[in-house]
Amino acid sequence: FIVKITLIKGDGIGPEVSGSTRSIIDAALELHSDLKIDWEVFNIVDGQLSEALFKSLETNKVAIKGPITTPIGFGFKSINVFLRQKYNLYANVRPIKKIIPTRYDESIDLVIFRENTEGLYAGIEHVISEDHIVAEKVTTRSASMKIATAAFEHALKLNASKITVVHKANILKQCDGLFLETVRAVAKKYPTVELVEMIVDNTAMQMVMKPSQFGIIVTTNLYGDILSDLAAGLIGGLGLAPSANIGEDMAIFEPVHGSAPDIAGQNLANPTACILSGVLMLEHLGEMKAAQAITQAITAVLDHADTRTKDLGGTLTTSEFTDAVIKRL
Ligand code: NAI
Ligand code: MG
Repeated sequence: FIVKITLIKGDGIGPEVSGSTRSIIDAALELHSDLKIDWEVFNIVDGQLSEALFKSLETNKVAIKGPITTPIGFGFKSINVFLRQKYNLYANVRPIKKIIPTRYDESIDLVIFRENTEGLYAGIEHVISEDHIVAEKVTTRSASMKIATAAFEHALKLNASKITVVHKANILKQCDGLFLETVRAVAKKYPTVELVEMIVDNTAMQMVMKPSQFGIIVTTNLYGDILSDLAAGLIGGLGLAPSANIGEDMAIFEPVHGSAPDIAGQNLANPTACILSGVLMLEHLGEMKAAQAITQAITAVLDHADTRTKDLGGTLTTSEFTDAVIKRL
């Protein structure tokens, strides 16, 4: 049978990594499933979103998205943040797993549950004067409860024994205080899961010093954004870090990385982060066999130093890497 999925190509390296992902998913489904995807493809130019895109997302409820450039300082607001807020995609789930050798001997297998709709990303800034700007950090009990519940439900599913909540409630006593208090309250409903509390600056240091101590992390929007790039750096870089934006009835899958203008259009990007986001999408659709086949093929290709992309010290271009994964399937 056929299912329609929205594909937002993105810009910069977006079209390269999302194109690679599309061909690998198509190949895997052909081999391992009766399902076929009818991709509804969209380009976003100059921050302009079309009614047709909204309609596609609202009908299909599942999308893969390439990264989209956001101008720094003045200019349009982030399309990424806009879509997460518009569709209340409250959980940004970011798994980080060591699949190639790194500077760490220990295993690294963690997942960050980042609150995805508020915090400092509410984008509310007040110009008091040209020399004085105030930004609002929005924290609500309901959004904090949703992200905490998502994290604890995930812990139950994995049989995990602890969750680390990352905060700065020592300084932001009200905002992060409410977040922490809400996570503690949710934790009480999950007596088999221990809640470990950690302040964000210490967390950054702990992640670098001993990443194996982390399993599931739950945190606010900004800390989750920063710590997930840090975590990607532990396992080989942004080219390897996928994510899922999950809401009540919609899910958008995208790599953690941005549009990488420094390497865009040169067939140099590592598509793994986007492909693994596609794997998360297939799991979301219940297509476990195809998901597993792609994971195995990627792992096998990445296992050889010479069949990696340049960011990982290899020599393959984006398209050669894509072909290698498809061949391996
Ligand atoms: P970036 O993630 O695009 O790039 C950071 C560094 O990592 C660069 O050196 C880049 O070449 C490298 N890199 C990233 N992805 C890679 C890949 N797949 N393969 C190989 N190397 C890779 O971050 P940056 O430069 O801070 O942001 C660029 C633009 O992307 C900005 O406009 C930003 O707003 C946007 N952005 C969009 C996101 C989204 O659409 N969800 C997320 C993050 C940033
Ligand atoms: Mg980010």
